Amino acid sequence: MERSYLIAGNWKMNKTPSEARVLAAAVTKMKCGANTRKMIAPSFVCLPAAAEAIKGSDVILAAQNMAAFESGAHTGETSVLMLKELGVRAVILGHSERRHVYGERDALINEKVKLALAHGLDVILCIGETLKEREQGRVNDVCFGQLEGGLAGVSMEQMARVVIAYEPVWAIGTGKTATPEDAQAVHAACRGKLAALYSKKIAECTLIQYGGSVKPDNAAQLMAQPDIDGALVGGAALDAESFAGIAGFNI
Ligand code: PGA
Repeated sequence: MERSYLIAGNWKMNKTPSEARVLAAAVTKMKCGANTRKMIAPSFVCLPAAAEAIKGSDVILAAQNMAAFESGAHTGETSVLMLKELGVRAVILGHSERRHVYGERDALINEKVKLALAHGLDVILCIGETLKEREQGRVNDVCFGQLEGGLAGVSMEQMARVVIAYEPVWAIGTGKTATPEDAQAVHAACRGKLAALYSKKIAECTLIQYGGSVKPDNAAQLMAQPDIDGALVGGAALDAESFAGIAGFNI
């Protein structure tokens, strides 16, 4: 079966609202090849400006995180209800910076995944091993554990709204990319795990993005791998020209 590609820009804690407006408007003009969708994930405070800039376009608006609760006494957190009202359609959860800098564990990430799906948002669930875990030969173990933990209680039906992003932690923001073959091996293994957790059909339909120093000059090679269905892009998504080069990898 032929899956589509999803190219998502994770802007992290970069761009002010006025800068976000300009970059989001530029993304609306970027051309994509067949079967390819564009997504942007600005910071919370930049979402309204970005939403306005992409109105009427085919760009999908995503958030970089959200609270595990709908509302209440959670100082500093942002609710799924607030995101939805701003036109957010998807949320990145379990990013390695959330896991490793802010201490988020699979159980918390899983609460967020279930809440987002229950409210109709799509989810990009990030998984990936650290350098140490790779050196210990534990890549599949770590990724499978994060898949199982993050997706606990997610139904077969809901899986249609889940995208997995494989992002080896050692490749994020470092300029070191997994070779297309190394990434492919992990993607294929994760697809196998999804088949075991759900079904072969669901595994075949689920998009698995690669993330970690994706650039215009390595995007096409990565995307040419049979189990790589797009990219979650950090640094290279902050510049319109380089993001356009990635979004247009198959033109
Ligand atoms: P990078 O970040 O492209 O800057 O490596 C990717 C990510 O963290 O999603």
